[in-house]
Amino acid sequence: MSDPDPGAPPAASASHAFAAPARALRTIVRGEGAALWDAAGRRFVDLGATHGVGNLGASHPEVVAALRRQAGELLYLGTGYDVPVRSEFLARLTGLLPPALDRVFLSNSGTEAVEAAIKFARAATGRPKVVAALRGFHGRTLGALSATARKEFREGFEPLVPGFVHIPYNDPAALRAAVDETTALLLLEPVQGEGGVHPATEEFLRAARERTRETGSLLAFDEVQTGLGRTGRLFAFERWGIEPDLLTLAKSLAGGVPIGATVTTREVQARFRGSHHSTFGGSPLACAAGVAALEVTVRDRLAERAERLGRTALNRLTGLPAERVREVRGLGLMIGIELRERAAPYLARLEERGFLAIPAGPAVIRLLPPLVIAEDDLAAGLEAIEQVLGDG
Ligand SMILES: Cc1ncc(COP(=O)(O)O)c(C=O)c1O
Repeated sequence: MSDPDPGAPPAASASHAFAAPARALRTIVRGEGAALWDAAGRRFVDLGATHGVGNLGASHPEVVAALRRQAGELLYLGTGYDVPVRSEFLARLTGLLPPALDRVFLSNSGTEAVEAAIKFARAATGRPKVVAALRGFHGRTLGALSATARKEFREGFEPLVPGFVHIPYNDPAALRAAVDETTALLLLEPVQGEGGVHPATEEFLRAARERTRETGSLLAFDEVQTGLGRTGRLFAFERWGIEPDLLTLAKSLAGGVPIGATVTTREVQARFRGSHHSTFGGSPLACAAGVAALEVTVRDRLAERAERLGRTALNRLTGLPAERVREVRGLGLMIGIELRERAAPYLARLEERGFLAIPAGPAVIRLLPPLVIAEDDLAAGLEAIEQVLGDG
């Protein structure tokens, strides 16, 4: 056997990826809207949108055009300089939010957005305690992971950051007992995503707002997954009219390009003591994509579309067989189908039929399709779900 040519490119393989799944991965080479194609040219309908990154679909032409334009002008420049596209992005984003939420820290991912929220709250209040919810998910860096209660994500990484406590979600009495005068931050998802698609009750969110005001604590909504139209409102908190002091965004905010944003008030900024920074945060490239993504999301009324399509989907899915399905719940195009058994075999059957959905925990099939999904594709996906769950 001859020695391998040292100059030859390595054979392409996913097996070099750290923590790659044990199963062989399907190779996807191209996407358009909610359609993805594998290397053999087979078309799939994406019902998961990379955990909500793809609200605008796989490769939105306006996002691509903005990236091309920006790449030809200026790829990177730190926050020590004013860059017009960054200012434009920040103006557009804050223009979509309540007036008080007008200070934005930009980073590169959801977990970084949450880390910043935790740091801002501790430094602004001078208090240590962070209250979050059981079943919640906020990311995997050590601060965000400390806010994430689920054992399977924490195992092997302890000790985590001290000062975090977890309460049952949608339990106002537990919330009132946990949030006290030592609490810096109450951190909640308006709809728990990874935890199985559980929408908050209005009573819980009202208690969150009231109790944090009573105790001088800050309230953060983690809208990394629910933001930008996903739940049928541009931001999920709009449904209840309850404003947080801090808001975390990421995933679809720049149409598929890495970004994170921690939005807060001038008051929190004024009380913040300390230093926080990100080298790549606010990169011109991400901001250009963000301007295009916000433009499309608002102009094409994608939140309204999510509300309409989500309602139709939820109505249809209530007809699923009760012996196999415990509950169907969701808001907008964020839908969870909780089974009485493991979801994985049904996800595999859906994939065989050409539909790529994702799990949320062991027993929930999660649907987070691109908000631009063609109605025919969504209907076909729902039919496939009915078939696989209806098969004896
Ligand atoms: C609510 C929420 N917060 C934070 C994160 C972490 O985001 P990222 O994976 O971009 O770090 C996620 C990711 O799924 C999320 O759903």
